[in-house]
This record gives sequence, structure tokens and C-alpha cells, in this order.
Amino acid sequence: MTTPRKLHIKSYGCQMNVYDAQRMVDTLAGEGFVETASADDADLVILNTCHIREKASEKVYSELGRLRVAKDEAARQGRDMKIAVAGCVAQAEGAEIIHRAPTVDIVVGPQSYHHLPQLLKRAMENGRALETEFPVEDKFGFLPQPRPDAIRSRGISAFVTVQEGCDKFCTFCVVPYTRGAEVSRPVADIVNDVTQLTDNGVREITLIGQNVNAYHGEGPDGRAWSLGRLLQRLAALPGVARLRYSTSHPRDVDDELIAAHRDLAELMPFVHLPVQSGADRILAAMNRKHTADDYRRVIDRLRTARQDIAFSSDFIVGFPGETREEFSATLALVTQIGYAAAYSFKYSPRPGTPAAEMRETVSAEEMDERLGRLQELIDSQQSAFNRAAIGTTVDVLFERTARNPGQIVGRTAYLQPAHVMASPDIIGRVLPVRIDSLERYSLIGEIAAQSPNLQTTIGA
Ligand code: 5AD
Ligand code: SF4
Repeated sequence: MTTPRKLHIKSYGCQMNVYDAQRMVDTLAGEGFVETASADDADLVILNTCHIREKASEKVYSELGRLRVAKDEAARQGRDMKIAVAGCVAQAEGAEIIHRAPTVDIVVGPQSYHHLPQLLKRAMENGRALETEFPVEDKFGFLPQPRPDAIRSRGISAFVTVQEGCDKFCTFCVVPYTRGAEVSRPVADIVNDVTQLTDNGVREITLIGQNVNAYHGEGPDGRAWSLGRLLQRLAALPGVARLRYSTSHPRDVDDELIAAHRDLAELMPFVHLPVQSGADRILAAMNRKHTADDYRRVIDRLRTARQDIAFSSDFIVGFPGETREEFSATLALVTQIGYAAAYSFKYSPRPGTPAAEMRETVSAEEMDERLGRLQELIDSQQSAFNRAAIGTTVDVLFERTARNPGQIVGRTAYLQPAHVMASPDIIGRVLPVRIDSLERYSLIGEIAAQSPNLQTTIGA
């Protein structure tokens, strides 16, 4: 028997990179690779990179510096370590990486992961391999299914890509360039993937896509199905306890998606709906294709359909030309909506995007100040949202044993971590939990109603 080769993947950035990393592991499993937790003993190291902001992009080169040392050390021990750069930096700066970093053997863009085995072979034979084309064939048709043991080791919550790429062209964003045009996977393929996952213990599915609610995949009837219809179909599958989707665009929230929130108990009432800014002039300059009022109306419609719905969002401060008044409009929108969580970023000019050409930049100090104020407001909303859970009984899907002995941790509908003292038997089940307290971001409670064979063993 040949000894398995070792693969180490480090992912940066979004959920799709987490999903893609798993698909790369699944692809290379067929080549005899097993995962290893450390880069030092790996035969192949893949950096799965993110290009969304400058800071994320820069990490690649510092990480490559560290890997060069590991590669030299491996060579001294007579081992051949190959280094691959995947993800959005590979797509955007592939040729430059090859030029700047001689230590890199393979550069592979997100649409070519199914070619990894061939690229590896090419790197073994010719020294280096670069692929950043958008191949005509659909990679999903070629990426192998994960093995049952791989699914089980990844836990009870899984991502499934249903849509990739973006046609929106927000002026600050690299995604339409790095991930390409919008493509939706057929419903039957997604049903197949989800069934495979639930057959192996997965209970929660998060459908992912750069613009997930622009989904328009081919349905079994030959027509384009919306995300709402897809969710309806998946909710009917046995074993699916919870459904989520991310990331959506306010413009693509349609009647079927709203109906899905009204009708499907499996669809969690927690929606990530980025708005970026509360000022109409900035939204127009960002090419968001909606106003702040359009966004408010979408939120209102979702709240009417599902009363317990909560929202998270993304914000950019210091977009070129953003005035203090315009920033105040963002604060006002946040105050008005009331978020359960949100992410805020300082604007970062990205090469090749229209906003990078805009001249009226906001100073670094001003950006810091705005970011601080926005984050303070968001933090206070998040804390209030978490505190409101104390004294209530909420459903928790239990995921794994916690660090504290005897504790099991799960998540509420709103992705808040919740800890209880209980037997590990509850992992994979949704149970009501009476919340007693809040420790930082985590809820602490007790299982409220349970079947007799699930008595808590400690602290009961
Ligand atoms: N600068 C700062 N933040 C950005 N985002 C996307 N592009 C940029 C950029 N150039 C943020 C947006 C998006 C999130 C994923 O990252 O808020 O929703
Ligand atoms: Fe980027 Fe805008 Fe597309 Fe989102 S909708 S991925 S922010 S271009």
C-alpha cells in the first residue's frame, strides 16, 4: 500500500471559500491525499485566498514567505512540498504571483478546481502550472461528491453552493471579476447534494452564492426556479431540519422568497441582507441599484411575512466622496432597522473596479472615526438582541461538545451559540432551551423539555 500524501489547506475570506476548500479536499482524496493540520509535514499546501479588500489580499504574500521556509526545510529532509495558490487572489493576480513568488508551483482560479489533479501532475512534470481561465464546462459536473466519512467529520451543518458569480457590478467590488458571471446550478443537482449530506447526518444546510437570491437554476419542469421555490423543495426533504441562505441582494428579494419565509418552518428567520450605506447618493455611486427606502420596504415585507425575523448586514464606511451627513444617514438606517449582527468595513480601493478611479477619497482618520462609531452602534444592537433572549425558551440545534466538560453547544435560529449541560446524544437534534444567562456572545441555558432518555447527566 502506498502511503497517503498529505494536503494542508488554509482558507481566507467568505463561506464559499470554506465550501470550495472542502471540494478541493474531496477532489484530491481521489488522488490519495489526506488532510493534515499543519503545513510543515504537507506534500501539498493550498492557500485559498480572498481578494475582497486589500488587507485580505496582502495576507497571501506574507503567508507565502512563511511557506517558503517550510518548503526549504522539507527539501532539506528530502521531501518535495508543492505550494498552490487558489481562490480570488489567484484569479485576479495569477500571473503576478507566478512572477513574484518563485516558491509557488500552482495557481488555480475558482472555476478550475476540478482540474487540480491535472495541474498537480503538470507541476510535477514541468515545474509550474497556472490556470485562471473560465472553462466552458461547469466545474460542478466534475467535482466528486464528498465521501460519507468526510461529510460526517465536517459536522451537522453544511454549505452547498447553489449559485456562483455576480452580475451586479457594485463599483467597489471585485467579485464580478474574480468569480465571473452569475451561474445557477440545476435544482436536481442541489437536491442530490443535499440528500447525500442529510443521509450522512447533516441537519442544517446553508445555500451559498455571491448573489444567492439571484438564483435561477433549471427546475425539474425545465423552467428557471427562484430561490424561494428551491427552498420550498429542499424543506420537503426528510432530514433537513434547518435551511439558510447567504448572501443576498436587496434587489433580488422577490415574492417567492418572502412566501418561503412565511410558509417554511425549516427556513430560519435570520437573513443577511447587505445594504452598504444609508445614503441614496452613495448607494447610486456604488451602483447598488436601490435606495435606502427600497431597502426599508424589503425589510418591512419580510417582517410582515415572518414576525420573528432578524437581520444582519454589511456596511462600507468612507466610500469615495461620502460626507459626514451621508455617513449619518447610515447610522440612522442602522438605528431604524435594528440589527441582530452586522459587519462593517473601511472602504478599500480594489484595482480594476470603477470606484478605485474615484478621486474624492475620505481621509484615514475620518474613516477610522466613522468605523468606530458604526461598530459601537452595531455592537450595542447585537448585545441588546442577545440579552433579549434571556428568560425565553428558544430552539437550539446541537452541534458538538463544548470546551467545558459536560457542555454541549448548538446554535439558535439567529446563529447565537447556546451552551447546555447535557449528554452528547443530543448532537444533531433541535431542542427547546430555556436561556438563563449570557456570557459574552454565548447564551447559557437548560433544555426545557426532553424525552426521558435524554436526561441531563451533569448539573441537572
Ligand atoms: N472595500 C471595503 N469593503 C468591501 N466589501 C466589498 N468590497 C469592498 C471594498 N472594496 C464588503 C461589502 C460586502 C462584503 C462582503 O465586503 O460590504 O458586502
Ligand atoms: Fe460584489 Fe455587489 Fe455582487 Fe455583492 S452584489 S458580490 S457587493 S458586486
